[in-house]
Amino acid sequence: MKIGILTSGGDSPGMNAAIRSVVRTAIDNNIQVIGFIKGLKGILDDQFIELNDRSVSGIIEKGGTFLQSSREPRFLQKEYRQIAYQKLNELGIDWLIIIGGNGSFNAAYKILTESNIKVVGITGTIDNDIYGTEYTLGYDTALNTATEAIDKIRDTAYSFGRIFIVEVMGRDYGLLPLDIAFATGSELVLVPEFKISTKTIAQKIHEYKQKGKKHVIIVLSEGYASAYELEKELNPILKSYNPEYELKIAVLGHIQRGGSPTAYDRIFGTLSGQKAVELILENKNGYFVGLKHNQIQPVEIELAVKNKKKIEHKLITVLEELAV
Ligand code: F6P
Repeated sequence: MKIGILTSGGDSPGMNAAIRSVVRTAIDNNIQVIGFIKGLKGILDDQFIELNDRSVSGIIEKGGTFLQSSREPRFLQKEYRQIAYQKLNELGIDWLIIIGGNGSFNAAYKILTESNIKVVGITGTIDNDIYGTEYTLGYDTALNTATEAIDKIRDTAYSFGRIFIVEVMGRDYGLLPLDIAFATGSELVLVPEFKISTKTIAQKIHEYKQKGKKHVIIVLSEGYASAYELEKELNPILKSYNPEYELKIAVLGHIQRGGSPTAYDRIFGTLSGQKAVELILENKNGYFVGLKHNQIQPVEIELAVKNKKKIEHKLITVLEELAV
């Protein structure tokens, strides 16, 4: 048997652990493994390498993905997808393991429904926004990286008594910003699912300040607004409350996505890789490795692409109540 493996879309810490595990489990089961470079782009551009036990040595502790990644716009067009299927058939690939987030799972679903190539997914996104699983690979590392960064921001925010907007990644799902806000004891979190007026944000900050809070930290999801846009609107309102209020911004951006994976992500990546090969051996086409009730188990890719994860508003209220 011959399988292909690729990482696609935003890289996430732990992807290397997953690749290592897939390669070694597959080889142990006499399965040949082809690694495509830069995700789906590698299929279209004939960029691939055969992987062996040694190709994946010394990568478990490294962030990013050694196979590299891309967001391949050609794959959105049917004519290019047909070329990709033809290339996979010519290479004799029976199964493709796709490691990525929602965009990559959409591509996986297309392959599943349009071609004879069988597909297994492994989650790989710091956003934890894939429906049907409690966890996605890389989330814990990104959460910890952002927490560490905000702890540092808080030191300086306290020293000057400043108000900080910290813009974090997480696209259009608010769980990562919310958990970052909980972990750092931040005063406010702004997520795309629940928008409030800038006036209300200013009022809340003013109330915290009046209660004697030295500094205020607002965790802002990039999907809500950019920190620069928000600062422009918020600053004049804050100054109208008190001209001494000082508003600063910090954008964490891709810092949050890089770095050595936490032990949890290394373990989750390793177990996901092993499970993915097990699913192939069991001929479970169209599944991804998910986490349900804290157990690694197969979930249908179709379920993930046809549904959207949601967060509860109550958690935002809890955060604000605790910031009194
Ligand atoms: O999906 C992962 C993610 O890091 C999102 O949180 C973010 O919105 C996006 O990717 C950024 O993508 P890019 O690296 O292509 O700018």
